[in-house]
Amino acid sequence: MIRVGTRYAQTAALDAEFHMHTYARKPAMFVRGEGMRLYDDDGREYLDFVAGIGAVNLGHSHPAVVEAVREQIGRLTHVSNLYYVEYRDELARDLVALHGGDAKVFLCNSGAEANEGAIKLARKWGTARRGSACHNIVTAERSFHGRTLATLAATGQPSKQEAFAPLPAGFSHVPLNDIAALESVIDDATCAVLLEPVQGEGGVFPCDPGYLTAVRALCDERDVLLMFDEVQTGMWRTGPAFAWQLYGVKPDVMCLAKSLANGLPIGALVATAAVADVFAPGDHGSTFGGGPVVCAAARACVRALQDQRLGERAVESGEYLRARLRSFARDTGAVADVRGAGLMNALEFSEPIADEIALAALAHGLVLNNIGTHILRILPPLVCGRPEIDTLCGVLYELVAC
Ligand SMILES: Cc1ncc(COP(=O)(O)O)c(C=O)c1O
Repeated sequence: MIRVGTRYAQTAALDAEFHMHTYARKPAMFVRGEGMRLYDDDGREYLDFVAGIGAVNLGHSHPAVVEAVREQIGRLTHVSNLYYVEYRDELARDLVALHGGDAKVFLCNSGAEANEGAIKLARKWGTARRGSACHNIVTAERSFHGRTLATLAATGQPSKQEAFAPLPAGFSHVPLNDIAALESVIDDATCAVLLEPVQGEGGVFPCDPGYLTAVRALCDERDVLLMFDEVQTGMWRTGPAFAWQLYGVKPDVMCLAKSLANGLPIGALVATAAVADVFAPGDHGSTFGGGPVVCAAARACVRALQDQRLGERAVESGEYLRARLRSFARDTGAVADVRGAGLMNALEFSEPIADEIALAALAHGLVLNNIGTHILRILPPLVCGRPEIDTLCGVLYELVAC
């Protein structure tokens, strides 16, 4: 049974009356969080396997981030990008170091904005490089890059695009893990290839390792930028700081957001210095991007993720989770596939029961996300360990058996 507390009921009624209905919200209202645990307005405890869709890798209310925000917001909230402020440049320096050096950063507010910045940068780079219009970007079918018009055009999911035509031109989509398909669409008007190393919103589909190596070689041969959308895979979610390090394939441009500030809105565009230098004053900007509060939070978040070695935890817990899900698949016969990397995983059912399972799990105190009708996405904070995974699997057995 899903709960209906008074506060929840009032809030849901306000939401129905006054909010645009772009989300089919689940029947729960959370008022507090700590680590992997969330608490609703009745004080009921939940284990969180969504982590704000991969935006809270450190776990809820991490003291280092809370303190950094509190300290900064009490002194100075906002000035603008016209002036220097604290933390913006320390954060950029830390991100460049994690990326292996030789890069520059542009800070914005979200994943879509980071990708928009990447699209603009690639177009300006390509046109300057070729000396004639060069603005085409190749992305993957089933990919997800955001909801703004250009990032929606980059997204390889026609169902999300159809109502919003005409979308900006200059994007083509190829099947993932098919190097011949990619080779056939790259031409003189192509400035970049944009890929998620592990597709997230599309259903958690990792790129084949050999594919990314071949894509890197192809981009070098054709003088095209390789851009990775690491909005969901970044910040140790798959083990290393960025998923490109898992594959050993370094992109020219990388986009980050989600867990960079552990739940506060931030995005980052990271590009090899020579590519980044194509942008001149006036080419791109943001009122709020790179503000001192979110940068203080992000810097504290990056340090805590490193100090707590949560990338190692993501690898170990991810292996344990996939092993347990494979046993579950054998025991129940209800599963079509188990896949993922680190703590970014999918359980794909053979039947269309994922939404029903996610809803029933909520009533059992588990926060889970379904992608469509068949896929459960399991994306907990990286503090997730074996006991929480055992609880998850226990509930899955109970729900699938009955
Ligand atoms: C890979 C990827 N890129 C971009 C986005 C868009 O990010 P945002 O919602 O912060 O604009 C998402 C969001 O889920 C994502 O997973």
